[in-house]
Formats: sequence, structure tokens, C-alpha cells
Amino acid sequence: MEIIEEIIKLKKERNAVILAHNYQSPEIQDIADFIGDSLELSRVASKVPQKVIVFCGVKFMAEIAYILAPEKTVLLPDTTAGCPLAETVTPDDVRRKKEFYPGVPAVTYVNTNAEVKAESDYCCTSANAVEVVKKIPQKEILFFPDEHLGDHVKYKVREKEIHIWPGYCPVHMKILPEDIWREKEKHPQALVMVHPECRREVRKLADEVLSTGGMVKIARESSKEEFIVGTETGILYRLKKENPEKSFYPANPQAICEDMKKITLEKVLHSLETLSPKITLPEDIVKRAYKAIQRMVETLA
Ligand code: 13P
Ligand code: SF4
Repeated sequence: MEIIEEIIKLKKERNAVILAHNYQSPEIQDIADFIGDSLELSRVASKVPQKVIVFCGVKFMAEIAYILAPEKTVLLPDTTAGCPLAETVTPDDVRRKKEFYPGVPAVTYVNTNAEVKAESDYCCTSANAVEVVKKIPQKEILFFPDEHLGDHVKYKVREKEIHIWPGYCPVHMKILPEDIWREKEKHPQALVMVHPECRREVRKLADEVLSTGGMVKIARESSKEEFIVGTETGILYRLKKENPEKSFYPANPQAICEDMKKITLEKVLHSLETLSPKITLPEDIVKRAYKAIQRMVETLA
């Protein structure tokens, strides 16, 4: 296909790397140099030797890449690719909560805008939220903005008092307990894995509650041959491609993140041609948000 050849050629000329989230469309996953969850992609972004990062994901992910490597050119092929969950909390909301609970650290899920991270003490991802909260020395914690991930952490870290912000991901809200029951009835041998952004009633029915990276790993390592997958459906392409002998069933085939799907091959090519749209952030925001991300890394060291 001509467009793919052009992307590959320009990628070399521009000294660029293409990073893609697990929810991206098959054609984007196929041209990516790295595919992963939020944590894996931020690790890669901070280490790659290339000068240009084309981020195929949503805005907060490209912002993290910029925060970790501000000397690089970070391109987001469609800057309207946002995250409705990230919009459920503002920097003012975090400031006000912190004033109300003086001395209580704010832990922010990475699915937030950079300005919100800048007001936070620690960041976490779906892959490490439980560990990060466990290791924070204070007993009381403020958790932003996903109430379901917060509830999952609360369940796993009983010794802490966690005040949870009531934000949610509309895509994961589409997955209902009856979806899991229906799929379990059809595939009784299947392992049920769901994302922590799913509601409690869904998480309770799951064998595993995992980040998307965790799902990729368990699908590879488990002796199970069938899996019911409770997250955005884009991940099914990767799961099937890497494990062609296994079967994967979406809990709800309508759980589609329209923002993730805004990235197309045409937009990737345009980004490489024009080196735009660039993601940049004010220096002060980068510095403060970096601290929260760095504290996440140090907490787990
Ligand atoms: P992961 O970090 O688990 O890939 O999750 C990102 C996300 O946006 C979930 O909806
Ligand atoms: Fe945001 Fe939900 Fe889309 Fe993930 S799936 S990027 S949390 S809207």
C-alpha cells in the first residue's frame, strides 16, 4: 500500500519513531515501532534515540512523552484526540481538595491533562496504581480522577483512607455485568480479564483486573485458550495477532474509544510531512508535572 511505504520512507528521513497505544486501529498498530499501555509507552518515549516521536494515542499520552523528553519533537496527528475521563477534573479541583485536606498527598491517574498533573504529588497508571498508593508513606490519600480505578485501589489497599474523585471513562462504563454473564455462558472455559476503569459489578465478575499491557502479558503467558476481554475493543487486534491459536471475545463490542480512532494513516503521513501538530507545554507545567511522574517512578524503585 502506497501510503504505508511513504510513512516508512518519511519516518527514516525525519529520524522519527511511531508509538501506538493498544487501542489504536489495526492499520496504525501495524506501522508502529512500539505498541503498549500508558506506562510502557512513557518508558519508551523517555528512552528512544529518535528526535521525533509520532504519538498515536490521545493527548494526555503525547503530553507525557513531551514532559519526559521536552527536547524532542512530539507530534499528535490529531490534537482533538482527547480523553473524556481526563476532562472530569481541573487543576482548580485538585487545588481545592488539597486545601480541604491539608498535607494529604494527591495521586493522579495519568489520564489527566498536564496542568492537573502539575498540581499533583504522585502520578500512577492503571498498571501501577495499587503499588504506588501502597508505597506512599501517608495513610490518607486523594485520588483523581477515575472513581473505578480508585475503588479498585481502595479494595486492594485496605489500610489506606482514600478520597476518590467521581470521574469515569464513558467507554468502560458501557461494559455491564450482563455482558460478562452472557459471554461466560457462551465461553465457560474463558478467562475473564477487565480493565480497572470498569465498574465494580464488572470487576467482581473478572478473574483478572489488568492494565492493557497486563492483558497482553497474561494472554501470552496463560495456558488458557479463551479470553473474555473487558476493555476498549482495539486491543483485540493485538491479542489475536500475537496469539493466533487463542480466542478472544470482547465483553461489549460497542466499547470503542472514538478519540483513539481519530488517528488515521493519512494523519500520520501528514504529521511526518509537516512535522505538525506539535505538542508543547509551558516550562513551569513540564517541571511540576515531571516531578509527579518522577515520584511515581521513585516510589516503585
Ligand atoms: P492503559 O494504560 O491500561 O493502556 O489504559 C489507558 C486507557 O486509556 C484506558 O482507557
Ligand atoms: Fe480516555 Fe476511556 Fe478513551 Fe481510555 S478509553 S482514552 S480512558 S476515554
